[in-house]
Amino acid sequence: MSPDPTHGKKGIVLAGGAGTRLDPLTRVACKQLLPVYDKPMIYYPLSVLMLGDIRDVLIISTPKDLPMFRELFGDGSALGIAIDYAEQSEPRGLAEALIIGEPFLDGSGCCLVLGDNLFHGNLDLFRNALGTERGAAIFAKEVRDPERFGVVEFDAGGRVLSIEEKPQRPRSRFAVPGLYVFDGSAPTRAKRLSPSARGELEIADLILSYHADDQLTAHPLGRGVAWLDTGTPDSLLEAANYIATLQHHGSVQVACLEEIAFERGFIDREALLAHADAQPSRGRGDYLRSRAR
Ligand code: DAU
Repeated sequence: MSPDPTHGKKGIVLAGGAGTRLDPLTRVACKQLLPVYDKPMIYYPLSVLMLGDIRDVLIISTPKDLPMFRELFGDGSALGIAIDYAEQSEPRGLAEALIIGEPFLDGSGCCLVLGDNLFHGNLDLFRNALGTERGAAIFAKEVRDPERFGVVEFDAGGRVLSIEEKPQRPRSRFAVPGLYVFDGSAPTRAKRLSPSARGELEIADLILSYHADDQLTAHPLGRGVAWLDTGTPDSLLEAANYIATLQHHGSVQVACLEEIAFERGFIDREALLAHADAQPSRGRGDYLRSRAR
């Protein structure tokens, strides 16, 4: 058995796009750096990769915004991970991330997460999916408004029947969250795709190429996992309120990257305490100190 439960998978955070649905918030500011309560949005998807024990991460963003991510995270070593950066010059679709990421992946499988998706709760399903060597894994979450998302339809035995991007008449209430696990064939498959009618390389088409080869699994996320998207002013506010409520009523923070790095063994206690001492705000420093058990 491989000592690495992810079989060498790397992570890609796609954090580009125009963010038009949040205009004027995003006319000048980068969407994935907007605050979700007390942290920049990208902390949340990055935390998911780290919780999956992924330590090699590529952040893809626009030429304009990429320098800000670089300034925020540097080479990742402060968190005990390695972060690379790559530009997407135009928003040509989510599946283009696999083409841009090909040199970084260098044949490895990966987990792609969208920089505006938040997950909270029990991530065992995700960790299990990272453990598969071949094929692709997606997740599914029952929602009230599936027409806003990619939609997956299952048969009675839980096998995938169809995947459609923002269908006018959804065949199910299961939305596909922006968290995807792919084997090493993803860049080759992405390069074979043609742009859709809206001119994008669609993630749904990439997923369908695995489905056509009988190499796709879809895992319904139960009540134990919350999935929040942040694409509209209302969903952004709801996500911030959700995180604030959790943090006020519990004793732990969500997506505290230094804490996660320590918990997963990426950094040692000394490094966590150094982070605590370096915090400009006392509250955060005290919190990190309290986690250095
Ligand atoms: O949130 C989950 C949904 O994300 C999925 O259910 C859909 O299947 C998937 O297509 C996507 O839908 P969105 O409507 O959220 O896609 P959007 O075009 O807004 O892009 C999602 C994020 O990715 C957004 O933060 C911008 C970024 N992006 C988007 C495109 C098209 C890029 O960085 N580059 C791109 O080329």
